[in-house]
Amino acid sequence: MRQDSMIQTERMVVRPIRPGDRDAFVRFEEASVHLHAPWQPIPPAGLDFGGLFDRALERMKHNRAARKPTDYRMIGVDESGAILGVFNLSQICWEPFCSAVAGWRVHAEWTGQGLATEGVNALLDFAFAPPPHGLGLHRVQAGIIPTNAPSIRVAHKTGFRREGYCPRYLKIAGQWQDHILFAKLADEHTFHYLEDEDSSEAASDANASPSK
Ligand SMILES: CC(C)(COP(=O)(O)OP(=O)(O)OC[C@H]1O[C@@H](n2cnc3c(N)ncnc32)[C@H](O)[C@@H]1OP(=O)(O)O)[C@@H](O)C(=O)NCCC(=O)NCCS
Repeated sequence: MRQDSMIQTERMVVRPIRPGDRDAFVRFEEASVHLHAPWQPIPPAGLDFGGLFDRALERMKHNRAARKPTDYRMIGVDESGAILGVFNLSQICWEPFCSAVAGWRVHAEWTGQGLATEGVNALLDFAFAPPPHGLGLHRVQAGIIPTNAPSIRVAHKTGFRREGYCPRYLKIAGQWQDHILFAKLADEHTFHYLEDEDSSEAASDANASPSK
């Protein structure tokens, strides 16, 4: 399985976090906490943003050693190294489920410009592309608070289907919040940045030229 995947989108390189991203990650989170906090359970109790990054990096290191990773922490970076968005696959389960939970958030100064759509399309390419370029998953799901209109729009734009309604699903901002459950299956996905046969070429192009 490819652990250093880099996907070139129109304006970002979407890739796993690295140790050198810690300061940029903390800057990203601090600048955007007012946007993210009502919708996402971050940071978990007792962790500051540096601690959150350290924990995510530790999980990624564990994944490098594991044949079947359980978490994939991706960021979208511009050519200056600034983080524009965070795009995660978590709770990855393997046979017979082959499923993951997707999460996304963008920098507060960069909303409304299609960056989440770009990053989620790249994340789904990575989730569904067969190894060694992706994880080869069968299903990706995402839960969204019903009043989070921009995120619901992102889910629709990236091809998720509404599957159901989950009362009191996740504790966010101290409250058990209802969520709409969305999902997408591999056979419903159209590749944007990694093609079926051309994925190797696309990934190596991204490695060679991580520009905007
Ligand atoms: C949700 C979030 C990731 C969207 O990021 P983004 O880069 O602005 O998303 P995009 O620009 O790709 O798409 C947003 C879409 O929502 C639409 N939108 C924005 N506000 C809206 C509103 N109040 N009602 C309806 N649609 C709205 C935009 O017009 C756009 O759709 P369009 O392309 O058809 O015009 C960002 O707002 C964010 O980080 N929010 C906080 C964290 C969060 O909610 N994460 C998701 C948890 S499930």
